[in-house]
Amino acid sequence: MKIQILTLFPGICHGVLGESMLKRARERGLVTVEALDLREWAEGRHRVTDDMPYGGGPGMVMKVEPIFRALSDLRGPQTRVVLMTPQGRKFDQSIAREYSRVEHLILICGHYEGVDQRVADHLVDDELSIGDYVLTNGALAALVVTDAIVRLIPGVLGDAESAVQDSFTSHLLDHPHYTRPETFQDWKVPEVLLSGNHAAIEKWRREQAERLTRERRPDLLR
Ligand code: ADE
Repeated sequence: MKIQILTLFPGICHGVLGESMLKRARERGLVTVEALDLREWAEGRHRVTDDMPYGGGPGMVMKVEPIFRALSDLRGPQTRVVLMTPQGRKFDQSIAREYSRVEHLILICGHYEGVDQRVADHLVDDELSIGDYVLTNGALAALVVTDAIVRLIPGVLGDAESAVQDSFTSHLLDHPHYTRPETFQDWKVPEVLLSGNHAAIEKWRREQAERLTRERRPDLLR
């Protein structure tokens, strides 16, 4: 799989792509992730990528032409093009799963007041938001989406179980986890986890996941 993040600030991405799980997945050849500088497709000596909004108002708007030219160069027959925007459909685990099966993904990052609407109307396949808040820069959102997708690619996670068991796959939040020591201050690990009784442990974890979900995210329960 190849993911290309098209942004005015590729430097924002380099740290995240060069550490931990994303770094290892790239090094092992399981995924290619690149942060591409949209300015490379901007014209003129100043490589302008934004302009004032028609109709007036504050802020600048990202221009359509550099994005059009970049996509003309990058897009292939198997490419899915996504615009990161607070106006998009809300990203979740099922969308992450869907995109983890795509061969080539281009994530376009907005900046400034917004992106010329003709990008959304004519150039992209999907618009995604990572939540109901506004970031200064879509690159942060693209990195969130990239991370959530890449960890679902077969072979990326060390323990094959860990992607199956985590939150949302079962429409439940994850159960609590503990490791040594058994007692810290006077905070004890729940007795059942020390019992060696695997059926009882499974039952406890299930109950905890259901309780947490009921208390914190009842919207996830069907
Ligand atoms: N750009 C700015 N805010 C965003 C958000 N919440 N999701 C996706 N892209 C964004």
